[in-house]
Amino acid sequence: FNNAAQAWNHVAYWDQFVPGGPNRPTGDLATRVNETFGDYEAFIKRAVDVSDTVFGTGWVWLTRDDAGKLALIGYEDGNNPIAVGRPAYLGIDIWEHAYYLDYENRKPEHIRAVLDKLVNWRVVEERMSA
Ligand SMILES: [Fe+2]
Repeated sequence: FNNAAQAWNHVAYWDQFVPGGPNRPTGDLATRVNETFGDYEAFIKRAVDVSDTVFGTGWVWLTRDDAGKLALIGYEDGNNPIAVGRPAYLGIDIWEHAYYLDYENRKPEHIRAVLDKLVNWRVVEERMSA
């Protein structure tokens, strides 16, 4: 499971960084993000907070909760929302290998950089409509 899940997780991770898309949610998705988290800055802060709930290595995923609302949930090791029947819209790798060379132990800076500069929200939108 761990090897298969990590292969899947990283394909999803790199795919969401394809250049050229908006680096912020737009339209209805922006409305959903803002209604759920407050605004984009609050969304980033929530992702950082959720990452702190993961003991050791893992991922933070934007997914959907049981009520159908957007949710940021932390998963340990290679776990992901797919394995528990939830959609995986956007993943943030919080294994040290994802950020240590650039940020040493400053994991929040890595999360902020991913969400502020790298994510193509068109990809996230496509995952939501799949
Ligand atoms: Fe990784």
